[in-house]
Amino acid sequence: MPLWRSASAKAKLLQGIPLFEGLSPRQLGQIARLAEEVEVAANKRLTVAGETGRELFVILEGSALVKTPQGRTEHLGAGQFFGEMSLIDGGPRSATVEGSTPMHLLVIGHREFWALLADAPLITKQIMRTLSRRLRKADAAFSAYP
Ligand code: CMP
Repeated sequence: MPLWRSASAKAKLLQGIPLFEGLSPRQLGQIARLAEEVEVAANKRLTVAGETGRELFVILEGSALVKTPQGRTEHLGAGQFFGEMSLIDGGPRSATVEGSTPMHLLVIGHREFWALLADAPLITKQIMRTLSRRLRKADAAFSAYP
């Protein structure tokens, strides 16, 4: 269900999110204008592994479960994001992500995502940092198998 909050109220919500750390009020305002705020019920499937995906999701409240086709699971909570991989390389969704609780989300479309990265290189840095951490964790889990 979409929420209709003013751009300035939305910009305030964005201040505590690591992905947007260090951004100027103007940049936060731009994100608030470009992003849609939605509330979804628990168990709502937000990405499906193998399908095309054209949005980035930022969790404002609630938590989500990531299930990879290889059988790994990860929990994501408030302040974390998902859905960036398909936007970056145009490939299919790498995992199925569904709400493990009701969630309050920020949804950023494909075109808006690239406009934001062009305007705010700090977001690119945060995304790269998160991708590196997730890759290290996945490699560690893989090498833990006999
Ligand atoms: P994307 O492939 O677009 O859609 C599924 C999303 O799940 C993916 O982007 C990542 O944001 C997230 N994801 C996939 N694998 C992992 C993982 N191992 N750890 C955390 N998040 C993941």
